[in-house]
Amino acid sequence: MSRLDAVVLLLFVWCSTAAARDEPVSVSLTLKDAFKEAFVMGTALPDGGLSAAEWELLTTQFAAVTPENGMKPAALQPEEGRFRWQEADAMVAESVRRGLRVNGHVLIWHEQCPDWFFRRGEADAPRDLVLKRLRDHVAAVAGRYAGQMQSWDVVNEALADGEGFLRDSLWSRSLGEDYVIEAFRAARLADPAAELCYNDYNIESPPKRDKATRLLRLLKEHEALPDAIGIQGHWLLGQVPFDDIETAILAFHAEGVKVMITELDIDVVPRNTQGADISARSDNSTNPFPGSLPPEMEERLARDYARLFTLFAKHRDKISRVTLWGLHDGRSWLNHWPSARTNHALLWDRQLQPKKALNAILQSAEIPE
Ligand code: XIL
Repeated sequence: MSRLDAVVLLLFVWCSTAAARDEPVSVSLTLKDAFKEAFVMGTALPDGGLSAAEWELLTTQFAAVTPENGMKPAALQPEEGRFRWQEADAMVAESVRRGLRVNGHVLIWHEQCPDWFFRRGEADAPRDLVLKRLRDHVAAVAGRYAGQMQSWDVVNEALADGEGFLRDSLWSRSLGEDYVIEAFRAARLADPAAELCYNDYNIESPPKRDKATRLLRLLKEHEALPDAIGIQGHWLLGQVPFDDIETAILAFHAEGVKVMITELDIDVVPRNTQGADISARSDNSTNPFPGSLPPEMEERLARDYARLFTLFAKHRDKISRVTLWGLHDGRSWLNHWPSARTNHALLWDRQLQPKKALNAILQSAEIPE
């Protein structure tokens, strides 16, 4: 029996006894320790910093952070050649000082990316200029933080949701497949020690999974294979595609990369859009749970989360990190996307209290030998 098994077993017995005595279950084991031997637990680091209580929660429960917006192209290079490093520098330094691993997010993405990359005066910039700008941006950003970053999301969301291979974006229009290849090459040169990751949503779903596999093969052919692929993991309550996720983990691992779950949350407010296309906003603001979540919904959320972590633990030899997209419900982007509504998608509530889902994860974290 591994140490983790023993801890989980003890915890299970302790919790069951507490439940039998009808006491509230409170778990003293932390998330990062529960999965220490399986994978690194991470969370998103929001812009503008955290309160002392939030830092306390973060450093107790998590071993890694991903800056939520502060390292995106729009944040770091809003105008050509004019970099704004101050906030990102502070985020990285503070995280490193607190002993956290930092995952950089994101070098190249079609969203939160200024237009100047693609323009020259009033006209479209020629291919060579766009390519130079891509290389320069990646070299400057990945180079600046080299030695401090555990990993980088190098390219985000390059794959098409519908027809076609690559998403139709200014990057793919300007450079075709080369934009992905060149981004990985430039990142490797700038920070050879960082783990490089291709990151996308819905790549567990069969059509997009095949495209992701094709992309990994293409990158391999060009000697630019990433170290990891990130399944973002923005899922919906009651609709988590467990079987697809497992198949995708196996398929990506077979291509020679590690798998990371990079932006996990479970949306409890019904919506029409699957995935996480941030441009897919909807106007109708629904707010079915403005206060807390009804107990039966908390239970359902707990079941989905527990089942997910059981699956991740089963494939711990293939998964190197699981990152939640937010520290607690008050910090979730799902309060704002696809429309403004109060969400309850994470493991701690707005008062920083652990939810049933956290206990369920810890109780069900059985790691097979
Ligand atoms: C989101 C942030 O959480 C929001 O604060 C921001 O307004 C939009 O972007 N996929 C990604 C993340 O890769 O960068 C997105 O983050 C969520 C979807």
